[in-house]
Amino acid sequence: MKKILVTGGLGFIGSHTVVELQNQGFEVIIIDDLSNTTVNVLERITEITGIKPAFHNIDLRVKKDVKSFFNTHKVDGIIHFAAFKAVGESMQNPLDYYENNIGSLVYILQEMRDHHLDNFIFSSSCTVYGQADELPITENAPVKKAESTYGNTKQIGEEIIYESCKAHNLNAIALRYFNPIGAHESIKIGELPLGVPQNLIPFVTQTAAGIRKELAVFGDDYPTSDGTAIRDYIHIVDLAKAHIAALQRLIKKNNKQNFEFFNVGSGTGSSVLEVIKTFEKVSGKPLNYKIVGRREGDITAAYADTSIANKELNWKTEKNLEEALAAAWKWQQQQ
Ligand code: WQD
Repeated sequence: MKKILVTGGLGFIGSHTVVELQNQGFEVIIIDDLSNTTVNVLERITEITGIKPAFHNIDLRVKKDVKSFFNTHKVDGIIHFAAFKAVGESMQNPLDYYENNIGSLVYILQEMRDHHLDNFIFSSSCTVYGQADELPITENAPVKKAESTYGNTKQIGEEIIYESCKAHNLNAIALRYFNPIGAHESIKIGELPLGVPQNLIPFVTQTAAGIRKELAVFGDDYPTSDGTAIRDYIHIVDLAKAHIAALQRLIKKNNKQNFEFFNVGSGTGSSVLEVIKTFEKVSGKPLNYKIVGRREGDITAAYADTSIANKELNWKTEKNLEEALAAAWKWQQQQ
């Protein structure tokens, strides 16, 4: 049984990926520092799959702890989710973001080099494209100067991995996520935003649940059909399955270069108002919202051209926006 390390494995994307890994017969070891999740996600994962993953509460910024983990554990692959991910917060604390997102990446890659480990999957983001010149966005779209420290940590992360693969004959894939939303069908795991949600969907569901008074729609003066910004919302389970597909590609040595990257989205763009309308349809609840000014740093539109990922990863999305919003709403009602 192949053993896979999942860092950040108790987080939103990490936990859904752990479930899919276990469903595919992988043995999973989770490292998480619990800075943005709670340890009872481990119980929820176990309830879903019947298999309790090994869990180590390690802060990957502490080099000696990373070293001691790898001195005692040999793994067949690593999926690296662990990172800070709040765009706005990253502008207030850039140094904390570089220390955590880049520091932990370097320490893990050093251990892979020293222990001759291989098969690294990196959690990247469509943020690297900024506002792409052409839509839908392909992998050939140029990486643009990051508008946020968070986005910069993803760009720098990809460069570090590329150079490490070249220098140490490592094999890695970066998955450039669009906007992950929804929850597992069991409704035992989902998005757990701590504090006021920065992202659209948790704010929508918390508003519908009466936790937030109303949703502020950040701008309706964008050059789009209804004036609100467009994003590519992908069901979290589809996103999780893309990681298994990428891991299998490396394990089977089907990759064509040492370092590859793929756009992982639904391929469909939805505006904020379209999301609201769809949510009202699936929840049967009118949503309380108001239009306010644009949020600094937001782009007009982003949605993926998924043809390369579909072909090379033999993966495609199976769920749509309605299913994702319905799951997000059920998950919210569970909280
Ligand atoms: C989506 C749309 C907002 C909140 C960021 C990162 C990306 C990933 C996901 C980490 C935008 C609008 C939002 C609200 C709103 N991050 N919105 N009112 O900004 O596309 O992507 O989060 O993994 O890398 O860049 O996601 O959910 O914040 O916003 O109108 O209260 O919803 O303006 O158009 P975003 P988001």
